[in-house]
Amino acid sequence: MTNTEGSVLERERPLDSGREAFLASVLGGLAAPQKTLEAKYFYDARGSRLFDLITELDEYYLTNAETALLQTRAGEIAERVGAGATLVEFGSGSSVKTRILIQAMKDLRAYVPIDISGAHLDAAAKRLAADCGLPVIPLHADYTRAFALPREVPRGRLVGFFPGSTIGNFEPPAASAFLEQARALLGAGARFLVGADLQKDRARLEAAYNDGRGVTADFNLNLLVRINRELGGDFDLGAFRHKAFYNAEEGRIEMHLESTKAQSVELAGRRFDFAAGETIHTENSYKYSLESFAALARHGGWRREAVWQDPEGLFSTHMLIGE
Ligand code: AVI
Repeated sequence: MTNTEGSVLERERPLDSGREAFLASVLGGLAAPQKTLEAKYFYDARGSRLFDLITELDEYYLTNAETALLQTRAGEIAERVGAGATLVEFGSGSSVKTRILIQAMKDLRAYVPIDISGAHLDAAAKRLAADCGLPVIPLHADYTRAFALPREVPRGRLVGFFPGSTIGNFEPPAASAFLEQARALLGAGARFLVGADLQKDRARLEAAYNDGRGVTADFNLNLLVRINRELGGDFDLGAFRHKAFYNAEEGRIEMHLESTKAQSVELAGRRFDFAAGETIHTENSYKYSLESFAALARHGGWRREAVWQDPEGLFSTHMLIGE
């Protein structure tokens, strides 16, 4: 492998294989008193396309607010990071935001996107390498677990990037653990740029997860489509509906799939009964205040150096330094 300008270094890394883990997760989740499905299974090819459509919706303010914020602050961010850094992105789904940073950061040495989806990763990496003339070192890994950076990653200053408020989809203890792991990976003195959606009025939050065109509903229901197709389930798609609301006590949006009638579903030789109105809890999306996010970061071994918000105070980008 050579590390030439604008090249993509390929690497293979075995991950937990799909179907078995998916089936075990679904069977366990449906057997719990509050039925649940893990949100990470939203993102098959169709789910990823639906999520891209969500980010373009007027109601889903998060993406526009964060992109505009990065555009406005990119110079300041780059100045704080300094020249000659390597950008390490957790996930590879944000090429617009990534490009804003890459263009602002002078003399970046390399870009390291980390993603669990190998296909997504390689396609995004190839496009970026071609467009930006920068060494791209894609890493196929589950960034919620411990992993090491490949040897090809230049030693020296690292800057992490975790946009989109994806951290809000972790339960707070898992978010802390993730930050701790990122701190161990990036090192003391490293910078970490993290996007976090902010607490705000219920109506604005609930509109973002109940869009008028029903794209979020399709995204949520796609989990059942996926279970039917990949695991041989027999969910009646017409008998479940999307439900999303703000849980103020927990400070989070909850997404559920509600059974519209009493019914049973068969999966892998097991039967799961649903009462009318019973739900499957599919996702939490935590919303932070500036203070609560700084506290979370401190728990994970990071000190906040700077924080920026968009003019409406909808979204926040935090610049953290590894302690
Ligand atoms: C990926 N994540 C930050 C999104 C969110 O807002 O929590 C996922 C999403 N779920 C429904 N709409 C978008």
